[in-house]
Amino acid sequence: MRILVVGSGTMGHGIAEVMAIAGHEVKVVDISWDILNRAKEKMNESLNRLYEKKVISESPEAIMARISMSTSYDVASDIDFGIEAVPEIFELKKKIFQYLDEKAPKTAILATNTSSIPISEIAEFTNRKDKVIGMHFFNPPPLMKLVEVIPSKYTSEETINETVELTKRVGKVPVRLKIEVPGFVSNRIFIRLVQEACREVESGEASIQDVDSAARNKLKLPMGIFELSDYVGLDVVVDIWKVIVSRGGTDVKCSSFEKKVSSKELGVKTGKGFYSYPGGRYVKVPLPEDSKADPARIISLAVNEGAWLIENNIVNAEEIDTVMKLGFNFPKGLMQIADELGVDSIVKNLEDIEKKGEKAYSPVKLLREMISRGETGVNAKKGFYRYT
Ligand code: CAA
Repeated sequence: MRILVVGSGTMGHGIAEVMAIAGHEVKVVDISWDILNRAKEKMNESLNRLYEKKVISESPEAIMARISMSTSYDVASDIDFGIEAVPEIFELKKKIFQYLDEKAPKTAILATNTSSIPISEIAEFTNRKDKVIGMHFFNPPPLMKLVEVIPSKYTSEETINETVELTKRVGKVPVRLKIEVPGFVSNRIFIRLVQEACREVESGEASIQDVDSAARNKLKLPMGIFELSDYVGLDVVVDIWKVIVSRGGTDVKCSSFEKKVSSKELGVKTGKGFYSYPGGRYVKVPLPEDSKADPARIISLAVNEGAWLIENNIVNAEEIDTVMKLGFNFPKGLMQIADELGVDSIVKNLEDIEKKGEKAYSPVKLLREMISRGETGVNAKKGFYRYT
């Protein structure tokens, strides 16, 4: 298959690499040769690491030989599949989809790796609305197994099936949303984790290190919430929550993130965010073993969001858990963790925070119903899952 990736930043070069590893011919387009050459270096570095660890058996040189680069959209003229992975700037995506629609064969599917912008809004700039779809990868794409597949209200069943098949062929696991919602599953949940982490710190309940230590040492997540935000990019995190909030999500109040963004401390990529990363490279953040932060409180708002997604028939509990395990390397699914910590404990935390004037924490209907039916999780042998 001939694949085009537009944008060669953190996600774009990783996606191109994944496609080339799977044997596809890949063209990468970006605005300058400086950016493209940097992407080439990063792909080489990553492929060498994978080769040394025997994750791939083909040589990095042979894989790189399937990747070509260009600063012109003309290379789109013979592609089968296009994936856009540029920054979350709506006007930029609009321009790119208009170009691609003009240049690419009428049969080509055009996917976007947007983290939050509704796919229907992007599809509307093309004359092939049925062939536009969301294909959302996770950072770093060569390591993370998940791809969220997000059909817009216009996407055809054929386009969905082809995208699901391509995802499987490149060794990834697709989770298909039934209907699109801003932020999809992954980022709606991620943003709620960020929101609660931020509230705990800004209200003085806990420190940044407390929250991150509890996330890593009590919840056993691979990164703390602030650490993961630094890894994703604080500008990206703020962009995602703005898109979700501006399209009807509940408000996210978090001035510490906005302060970091306005002082250009964007996380790993700038060498400094909530923590420091010398040379702009991620290093595991040193954290204290003990922490006063409560894991049930940290995940409470995210579980409320998960319950909302279930209640609205977007995905089920298993699919949410696949997203968190394969997209964020959680050792267990979020809804499974909620069952283990107790749905009653999650709801108590939500109600307690709601009483402090935080409307976003009002437990959704499904959670209230679960409590009234006594479905409080593992202890009750029924929560989001059944236990025997
Ligand atoms: N290519 C190849 N190998 C890579 C790599 C890459 N791009 N990045 C890291 N690795 C390798 C490292 O070389 C290292 O190999 P060894 O074990 O042989 O030394 C291994 O992966 C582990 O890396 P590190 O030692 O640097 O650090 P770690 O143990 O903490 O693992 C991690 C890093 C896999 C990223 C892990 O911390 C993790 O899973 N974090 C969570 C990541 C996550 O949640 N991503 C989703 C973000 S949200 C998103 O992307 C969507 C969005 O819309 C914002």
